[in-house]
Amino acid sequence: MNIILLGPPGAGKGTQAARLVAERHMVQLSTGDMLRAAVKAGTPVGVQAKAVMEAGELVSDAIVSALIGERLDQPDSAKGVILDGYPRTAAQAEALDGLLIERDRALDFVIELQVDEDALIERIVGRYTCAQCGEGYHDRFKLPKVAGVCDVCAATEFKRRPDDNAETVRTRMAEYRAKTAPILPLYEARGLVRRVDGMADMDHVGEAIAGILDKS
Ligand code: AP5
Ligand code: MG
Repeated sequence: MNIILLGPPGAGKGTQAARLVAERHMVQLSTGDMLRAAVKAGTPVGVQAKAVMEAGELVSDAIVSALIGERLDQPDSAKGVILDGYPRTAAQAEALDGLLIERDRALDFVIELQVDEDALIERIVGRYTCAQCGEGYHDRFKLPKVAGVCDVCAATEFKRRPDDNAETVRTRMAEYRAKTAPILPLYEARGLVRRVDGMADMDHVGEAIAGILDKS
């Protein structure tokens, strides 16, 4: 099964993708994570992407589609992929169609996480991750069981994303409204879109997504 998780910054795409990886052994393809890894490694893509990401703008369509194409060719992605943060423009949606056709694969669902934009700033500004294993946390919505200690790997160092500040989030949301939301009708016309209430708590959102996947 190949699905897209679509929604604005902070909608819960990464959170729900991680659950699907743990529960269904699907593979998460997050262009945001791939770009952050490239920035950290200082690759040519990372050097180009760094300032764009810090400004909350979109990296070029050609770069992100190439990253997804490479990743789709790795054997683990044959199990089924969750596209998290891709496609984000009409050009990327078109590129994805080509990438899937070339590999004789198809999209099963586009799951839109519907959220109230006003709540997203709090979600994003409160987000942090374990510096060692990447487990995600939130100052209010998901604290480690023991304060300051990662539930998964017991590390005590955490980090925050440089683009997770109120000002950059506004640009990221504007990019979503202008360039990403308009691709939904394209998928709707193909009968692929399913909507989930992304304002429910994380477990309920996860159950709603599971319900969609199990019905297919
Ligand atoms: P990317 O990494 O994709 O960021 P984003 O789309 O802005 O989305 P986020 O990762 O911020 O949110 P999320 O939906 O994953 O939320 P999460 O689950 O973490 O992209 C970053 C940048 O990279 C872009 O700005 C762009 O520059 C570049 N880029 C990436 N892909 C690109 C592409 N295809 N084309 C061009 N450029 C690209 O949840 C957020 C927080 O809320 C967490 O703390 C979580 O614990 C909490 N939370 C989650 N669900 C709930 C819930 N139900 N209730 C309460 N809290 C919740
Ligand atoms: Mg994310």
